[in-house]
Amino acid sequence: MSINLSEDLKEVLLTEDQILDRLRQMAADIDRDYQGRHLLLVGVLKGAVMVMADLSRMLDTQVAMDWMAVSSYGSGTKSSGVVRILKDLDTDLMGRDVLIVEDIIDSGLTLSWLASNLRSRGVASLEIAALFRKPDSVKVDVDVKYVGFDIPSDFVVGYGLDWNERYRNLRYLASLHEHVYEE
Ligand code: IMP
Ligand code: MG
Repeated sequence: MSINLSEDLKEVLLTEDQILDRLRQMAADIDRDYQGRHLLLVGVLKGAVMVMADLSRMLDTQVAMDWMAVSSYGSGTKSSGVVRILKDLDTDLMGRDVLIVEDIIDSGLTLSWLASNLRSRGVASLEIAALFRKPDSVKVDVDVKYVGFDIPSDFVVGYGLDWNERYRNLRYLASLHEHVYEE
């Protein structure tokens, strides 16, 4: 892997290989748990695009995909817990086995809101898969069945995660220098 760190990036926390290996294990767990069922993957735009693309292609389980866009009100690097739906699902969730696919759980406020919102739509089951989790930042307990990596609370970018819409396309996960997001 060639790493050409810009001056904004501090350190590579997880390489592309580490991320893909872990996703393969998560996919195996999901295949085992949903054997013979037809799963609806719900991705949360935009951060979860990379996780969804890679994880879904590693599954043997038959899946459909749908997308939601939400905004966790608040600026910069902190989530406020006030969630607004910017784009709702196209799919009726009645009786469906739903798996929310998320990039990262920071405070947990967004996911906890989203999970209860989707659960109230008559799902047969609802679980969460998140590739990254910051255990030290979690403010509300969210029951996440599939977690990729627990990471430090620093602000991170790459593999779908952005800072001001930048760095989503990095193949790895990197931390950002404080001077970038504290400006
Ligand atoms: P939460 O509500 O605090 O759990 O965070 C919700 C959203 O904030 C995540 O889905 C991400 O889109 C974003 N987020 C949280 N931490 C980071 C980070 O370190 N880098 C980039 N985005 C983040
Ligand atoms: Mg997100």
